[in-house]
Amino acid sequence: MIVPQKWAGLAGSSLTGIDVFLEGKDAYKPDEIDYALSFRPAPGLLARLPRLKAAFSLGAGVDGFLADPGYPKHVPLVRFVDRTLSAEMAQFVLLQVLMHHRLQRFFDASQKEHKWRQRVLPRRTEDTRVGFLGLGEIGAFTAPRVADLGFAVSSWTRNRKTIPGIRSFAGDGEMGAFLGQTDILVCLLSLTRRTAGILNARTFAALPKDAFVINVARGAHLIEKDLIAALDCGHLSGAVLDVFEEEPLPADSPLWDHPKVTVTPHVAAISQPPVVVKYVLDGIAAFERGGRPDNIVDVERAY
Ligand code: OXD
Repeated sequence: MIVPQKWAGLAGSSLTGIDVFLEGKDAYKPDEIDYALSFRPAPGLLARLPRLKAAFSLGAGVDGFLADPGYPKHVPLVRFVDRTLSAEMAQFVLLQVLMHHRLQRFFDASQKEHKWRQRVLPRRTEDTRVGFLGLGEIGAFTAPRVADLGFAVSSWTRNRKTIPGIRSFAGDGEMGAFLGQTDILVCLLSLTRRTAGILNARTFAALPKDAFVINVARGAHLIEKDLIAALDCGHLSGAVLDVFEEEPLPADSPLWDHPKVTVTPHVAAISQPPVVVKYVLDGIAAFERGGRPDNIVDVERAY
């Protein structure tokens, strides 16, 4: 099996019985590799492994694999699905929704000035509408947790998905209605050809004035200059960005210093190595038994 270098810890006892080669470090023969574990494999790398039986993603998203035009489509691609990842994302989204809703940034700024500024919440919780773009494994775990706190939660998905307590909007025809009733927009979509650039000027214009945007999916969902324009003209009240088109975010990006933007370094939900190791070992065991593990991606659909 080959793994990326920063996952060097995977080599060794936790994968007893499996020879692990670190891509870019260890010498290996391409025709000896049965499995590959990666997040963004170098373009063409997997196509050069003639015996590859499956590829495992280190994260929930598989766009890093499918960005490679040479991805060998007959090779099953398994994405990482785990409760720990969903729980971390739910925590992050709850944190950001509450920071915004409870005016925490305003109180932090007031403290810096030694100012005692009491404020009632501008909007009651039940009147604050949180809309999820995308309701996959992680969204379906996170949205009900936000609803549990009393927010009015809705979702937009390509095909209708119903979850008790979550108002469902589906398809292009219902996108406008979804956006029009969303005060806090949370993007949790997979990155596909259809969703790239979905956070754009038209989307922002369809949100109510003072809406807030949280992007925890992929940087390529967002047109950064459209976001900055929507913030600067006062239409949007703020944004939290955990993912960026270019990561690490370049030091000269205007997002770092924008007063209405909070930047976090792609940490909303991080796959935990021991959990991934077990997941991959179980997946390999299933393949070796002649079966197929859960969570094999539909490569054409890209999720
Ligand atoms: C993921 C990620 O896809 O970390 O899991 O972004």
